[in-house]
Amino acid sequence: MECQIAVLGGDGIGPEVTAQGVRALEAMGKVFGHQFRLEYGDVGGISIDKHGTPLLPQVSELAASSDAVLFGGVGGPKWDDPNAPSRPEDALLQLRADLGVFANIRPVKVYPWLAESSVFKPQVLEGVDLVVVRELTGGLYYAQPKGRHETPQGQTAVDTMRYSEAEVERILRVGFELAQSRRGKLASVDKANVLECSRLWRQTASRLAPEYPTVELEHVLVDSCAMHLIQQPARFDVIVSENTFGDILSDEASVLAGSMGLLPSASLAGVPMEGRLTPGFYEPIHGTAPDIAGQGIANPIGSILSAAMMVRYSLGLTEEAVCMELAVDQVLMDGFRTADIAVQDSKLVGSQEMGDRIVAALESSR
Ligand code: IPM
Ligand code: MN
Repeated sequence: MECQIAVLGGDGIGPEVTAQGVRALEAMGKVFGHQFRLEYGDVGGISIDKHGTPLLPQVSELAASSDAVLFGGVGGPKWDDPNAPSRPEDALLQLRADLGVFANIRPVKVYPWLAESSVFKPQVLEGVDLVVVRELTGGLYYAQPKGRHETPQGQTAVDTMRYSEAEVERILRVGFELAQSRRGKLASVDKANVLECSRLWRQTASRLAPEYPTVELEHVLVDSCAMHLIQQPARFDVIVSENTFGDILSDEASVLAGSMGLLPSASLAGVPMEGRLTPGFYEPIHGTAPDIAGQGIANPIGSILSAAMMVRYSLGLTEEAVCMELAVDQVLMDGFRTADIAVQDSKLVGSQEMGDRIVAALESSR
C-alpha cells in the first residue's frame, strides 16, 4: 500500500524522537513491502521563528489531506512569554480541532523488564494494562469565554469548562466500545460532586450503560482516581475522562510504565477499530523536554510506538503494528535503555542507537 504521512516534529526533542519513529516506520515498510510518502512541515515554536505563526494554513492543509500525522511536540522556554500573541501550543490545539480528533487513546503498558527502574513495588504493577481515553477537543482547552482582563481589583483570568451532551456521548461511546473489546471495565472519571459538566457526564454515562451490557461501568471521582491509579492500578481497564482530567491522569499513569518517554498516543475522530481505517494524529504523550533537547539522549520509544498505533489504526496493518511493538519489547528485553529508564548497570544508549536497535529487531523479525 502507498499512503501519505505528514511528519511534524516541532520543538525540543520532538524532531529527534520523531526521526526515530519515521525510521521504524520505514524499516517496517521495507520488511513488508509498503511505501510511505512522507511530507514534512514546521509546527510550533520553530514555525513562529521561521514564519511568524505557530501553524501555517498549508501545514494544517497538509495534515488534513494526509492519511495520518506523526507529531513530535511543541513549546519551550523561548516561547513562554505570557504576553505573546500566540504560543507554540496553539498549533497543536488548532490541529486537533481542525482534524476533529476528539478521542485521544493513551495505552499504558507495563514492561516486566523495567521493574528494576520502577518507583513501584513489583506487586503493585502486577497485571497493569490500562488505556486512558481522553476527550481532546473540548472542555477547558477550547471553550469560550477565555482570556484576561483588567478590573478595578486587578487582573482577572477566565477559562471556561463547557461540554454539550453530544460531545460527552461520543467520547463515552469510545470508552464503552474499547472496554467491550478488552476486559469489559470502564471507569468514567468526573468531579460530579462539584462540576455541572461532570454531572452531565455522569448522567450520560449511566444512560449509555444499558447499551453495553458486557461492560461494567464505574463512576470514579477524579481525585479518587488519581489515588487509585497509584494504589491499585491493576483494577483499571479503560479510563474515560474529559480533556484536562485526562491530560493529568495520563501523565500520572505513565509513571506506571516507567517513563513518560515510553508512552504513545493516537488521536482519532471516532472509535478505533482494527481493520477500519481512520485518519489520525499520533504523538508521544511527553512534551519537548527542553532540558535535554539536542543531546541525542531522549527516549524515542513513545514516538516509535505512536508510529505503530498509526500503522494499526490509520493504515489498517495489524500484523505490521504488532511487529513494531514486538521489536520494542525485544530491545527492552535485551537490556538496552535510554537515560530515563536506565539503572546502574543498564546498556545505556542514545536516541539514535535505540532507533538502530529497534530497526535491527524489526528487520530480523521476518
Ligand atoms: C499533551 C500535552 C499537551 C496537552 C500540551 C503540550 C498542550 O501536555 O498532549 O498531553 O495539554 O494536551
Ligand atoms: Mn499532557
